[in-house]
Amino acid sequence: METNLARAMASLTTGIYVLTVAEGQRHHGMSSSWVTQVSGEPALLAASVDKNHFTAGIIARTRAFGLNIVGARGRALEDYFYSARSRRPDNLADLDYTLSPALGVPWLALAEISIEARVVQSVEAGDHIIHIAEPAGVRIGAGDRPLTSLDLDYVYIGGKQVIARDRTGWK
Ligand SMILES: Cc1cc2nc3c(=O)[nH]c(=O)nc-3n(C[C@H](O)[C@H](O)[C@H](O)COP(=O)(O)O)c2cc1C
Repeated sequence: METNLARAMASLTTGIYVLTVAEGQRHHGMSSSWVTQVSGEPALLAASVDKNHFTAGIIARTRAFGLNIVGARGRALEDYFYSARSRRPDNLADLDYTLSPALGVPWLALAEISIEARVVQSVEAGDHIIHIAEPAGVRIGAGDRPLTSLDLDYVYIGGKQVIARDRTGWK
């Protein structure tokens, strides 16, 4: 992606999430920022996932995911999922989590809020699939402020790229 376009895209402020999936005994998660509410009644959210991610295949088959909202106190979650250590199947093995009551997707203990969501529609968008999903259950934490993309030094812009930035400007 051309530099100015990348900076423009990276300026679309987002939340910071961990999207989780489960299939049989497999439990897995990935950093996720392309997530937003897209309907009020019924409440629907959309998550965009690269077709080539390990997570993509599991969502395609199970039609469900967990959305774990990372708060300031759960920053270690983002550090972990950004690290090379997390780039393996079943990468929740070292984390504390439970399976959500309705859909059995992982709810991470360190997440501030966790949602379990059932996919109701999937739309192809270039190299990603947008999954529109209906929440089936929610767990609310103590009220910690959710992290946003402004709290990180890098922004996901698709592919293998992240764009680097700190409080003083682009890197
Ligand atoms: C801050 C951040 C946000 C990200 N957001 C997304 C996203 O919204 N969608 C996506 O497909 N990948 C996103 N990624 C990239 C995936 O998390 C990353 O490629 C991950 O390793 C894919 O995991 P998997 O192949 O094990 O499923 C993001 C990465 C970072 C660091």
